[in-house]
Parts: sequence; C-alpha cells; structure tokens
Amino acid sequence: MFTEADRTSGSDEEREREFIAFVGNGGVVEASDWMPDAYRRSVIKFIEFHANSEYMGALLERDWLNRAPSLERKLALTAKVQDEVGHAQLLYCLLEALGRPRRAALHDLMSGKSKFHSFFHYETRSWADVGMIAWLSDAAAVIAQRALLKSSYGPYRRVLQKVCWEEGFHVLQGRDVVLALVTGNEDQRQLAQASLHEWWPRVMMFLGPPTPREADRDLSVWRLKSRTNQEMLQEFLTIYAPRILEIGLKFPDPAPTYDAASKSWKYVEPDWEELHRNGRGGGPASAARIAFRKQAYESNLWVLETLGMQGAP
Ligand SMILES: [Fe+2]
Ligand SMILES: [Fe+2]
Repeated sequence: MFTEADRTSGSDEEREREFIAFVGNGGVVEASDWMPDAYRRSVIKFIEFHANSEYMGALLERDWLNRAPSLERKLALTAKVQDEVGHAQLLYCLLEALGRPRRAALHDLMSGKSKFHSFFHYETRSWADVGMIAWLSDAAAVIAQRALLKSSYGPYRRVLQKVCWEEGFHVLQGRDVVLALVTGNEDQRQLAQASLHEWWPRVMMFLGPPTPREADRDLSVWRLKSRTNQEMLQEFLTIYAPRILEIGLKFPDPAPTYDAASKSWKYVEPDWEELHRNGRGGGPASAARIAFRKQAYESNLWVLETLGMQGAP
C-alpha cells in the first residue's frame, strides 16, 4: 500500500517519483491508495482493453452456440462463453473503483470509440475456427495473463487468479475440438489445417508487436506488466509450436523454426499494420461484431428498464 507515510510533503513530481520507486520495488497499489493521474489513466486503459476483449471474444463464440456439433460441445462452449462474460464483468468492476463507470465503458465500446483485441476483428467461418481460437488464443492469453499476476495494481492481480484458472480450461476445450478434427476423416483434418493456415498469422500477432522494455511504460515504469511481448511470444512458440506439429498440422510458409544457437524461435514478422488497422475498427468483422454487441444490448434493454435503469449505458 502506498500510504500517506510513504509520501513526502514535496511537489507532485517528487510524489510521483516516490510512487514509481514504490512500484518498481514490488509495491502493490490498491484502489483507495494515492496514485499519480498518469498511473490511474494507464491502469484504466489497460484493464478496459482487457475487459472489452473478454467481452468481444465471448460474443464471437456465443454466435456459435447453436451451431456446435453435439450437446457436449454446446455445453462446453456455453460454459466458456459464461466464463468470458464473467471475466469482462469482473474487469469492468475494477474500472468502476478507479472512477470509470461501466456504462461509459460499454457505451464507448458500442460506439466504436474503444479498442478491443485485434484477434476478435475477424470472421469465424467454421467449427474448426472456434476450436483453433479457443486453443491458441486462450493459450497465448494464459501466458500474457500469468505475467500480469505480478502486476503493481493489486485488485487486477487478484481478479487474474480466477481468470487464469478458467483460461486453462478454455485451452483444453479448444485443444479437444481440434484433436477431434485431426483424428477424424479427411475433410475434418483439412478443415483444421485450413483454419490453422488462416489464423496462424493472427496468432503470431496475439501478444503484440515487439516493443523494447524501456519503450513500454506499462512494463518499465508502472509495472502493470512483468514481461515483454517478445519474451511471451518466445514462450508461446516453445510450448505450442511442437504441440501443433505433434498432432500432424503444418504451419503456413514460412514456418517458425527453433534456432539452437540463440535458443530462440525465428520467424517472419506478421503484418503489424493489419493489427493497427483492426485497432482502428477496420478489420474484416469489426463493424459486424460491434453491431452484434449493440443488438445484444438493445434486445436486453427491457431488463434495465424493468429495473428502473433505462437510459443506460
Ligand atoms: Fe477470458
Ligand atoms: Fe478464455
């Protein structure tokens, strides 16, 4: 906790320097603690992007509930969607405690003003896509979110304990869908292969562009993150590239390769402009997904009205 006693009676700049030293030494900040405005803004921006992404990812999968190929698959996907909406709910609650009303965050999401993860700006065309997304994007998310368990913002790291635990189940659910396809008939195997080809460049973007540690203030100054994007991508490739090959799938050319001399994976950088375009709402499914979000809101508006909360958000 960064208490009154930790502060000098000096200028705002001195207080901010003390705060940065506090978080740099492993200090944990609570919602009611004093914090520089820049830190508050960074935490809000970071968590809001995470909350929006959980929610938009859930919408992508909700769209497939009625098309799941069996009752078991439908039950598992329903549980996953419920988890993801729960993650969003917990994260929006964290924003409330920092002075960012949930309704305002949802409103900005629906108006296209707020960003959500690049991965959810694409169309899902097959059941194989649903499995591939759950397997590989949730696997990358687990790596990213585990690195946040040491975040300087206490409420966030506590919520992430639950989130990480549930994401582990999502990875297994996705892997099970993909495994069923690659061990099925030729058409199913080809469907899984086509899905990996299409989604692999997007998976390679999932953990974000390579950014030097010093240039990433969330990492180097505020310690919201504890690892660089590049470190996390290397871990992802170390774990998942062999698993992808092990089940008989092939990477699109050029495939990532392990370089024993440098003990790292070599690959061709994905098209980062595509990621930025998605971030600006210019992805292939950006408009449709936001429209779906609006439609979900409007069709449930009667609940808010019944509760006397009309006009929300
Ligand atoms: Fe999630
Ligand atoms: Fe998940």
